[in-house]
Amino acid sequence: MGKEAKIIDGKKISKKIKEEIRKEISKIIDREEKAPHLAAIIVGEDPASQTYVASKEKAARLVGMTSSTYKFKEDIEEDELLATIDFLNNDDDVDGFIVQLPLPKHIDVDKVISRIDPSKDVDGFHPMNVGRMAIGQQAYLSATPAGIMELLSRYKIDTEGKHCVVLGRSNIVGSPMSILMSKKTKPGNATVTICHSKTQNMEEIMKTADILICAIGQPQFVKADMVKEGAVVIDVGIHRIPENNEKGYKIVGDVDYEEVKKKSSFITPVPGGVGPMTIAMLLRNTFEASKHEIYPRV
Ligand code: GUN
Repeated sequence: MGKEAKIIDGKKISKKIKEEIRKEISKIIDREEKAPHLAAIIVGEDPASQTYVASKEKAARLVGMTSSTYKFKEDIEEDELLATIDFLNNDDDVDGFIVQLPLPKHIDVDKVISRIDPSKDVDGFHPMNVGRMAIGQQAYLSATPAGIMELLSRYKIDTEGKHCVVLGRSNIVGSPMSILMSKKTKPGNATVTICHSKTQNMEEIMKTADILICAIGQPQFVKADMVKEGAVVIDVGIHRIPENNEKGYKIVGDVDYEEVKKKSSFITPVPGGVGPMTIAMLLRNTFEASKHEIYPRV
């Protein structure tokens, strides 16, 4: 085994990005112009979603944005939710908004996401933004893939011609990540393989990865013997596992960090790697939305 991996410090980079945004917004406020406004819709009482939305609100305020949250009970009718989206689409004060997922089962999530005005879809989930991203046009990128691309870029990790293996094919991480890494961009220009639940010889494929992006949703699934010496390992997972400490749990990723860091060249820790980048990317999208450059106003 070689020397230990360099740690990709998402916490530090996200702070820098938030500071960059804060400075830009303070200039806007100094000119007595309107601060960017991020709104969030949340349905139900899911504790993880409540925490995420509260963190997004707090982060938005800390960089000087206006933040508003629309909370609904679990049994809200789909029509009422769609009417709220229409209201936010038409509210000129709101630059961007998100609908926190997951939604209750009786609500058609595709219908809800498609109702968001693409120019305000700062989560980058609308088919218009996904489609534009896929054909290399300017678009709002969803937060996790955007955060990973930003980390690769800021750590100057060479991706051109490399074999990038993405574990997982979800709409919000695996699938957009695989598209972005295959594009003629920097970072990008990689040869990409996606592994999923029906992939055969997954470990064999993983061992050939120069860059391994792990979004498989299983705690500490990726072990050192599945990773090539010197690989770049990006861990998207966030899981609570029981631990004999004060809290009774600890947070781990999809990667067995202690093992894999001894074999990789770069690695993202959990917590403190990809996670903190997602809010920074949401704020950046909201700031971009407030400038109306990606979707110019007609
Ligand atoms: N649920 C988990 N991640 C996300 C996210 O990035 N955006 C929204 N809206 N919901 C989520």
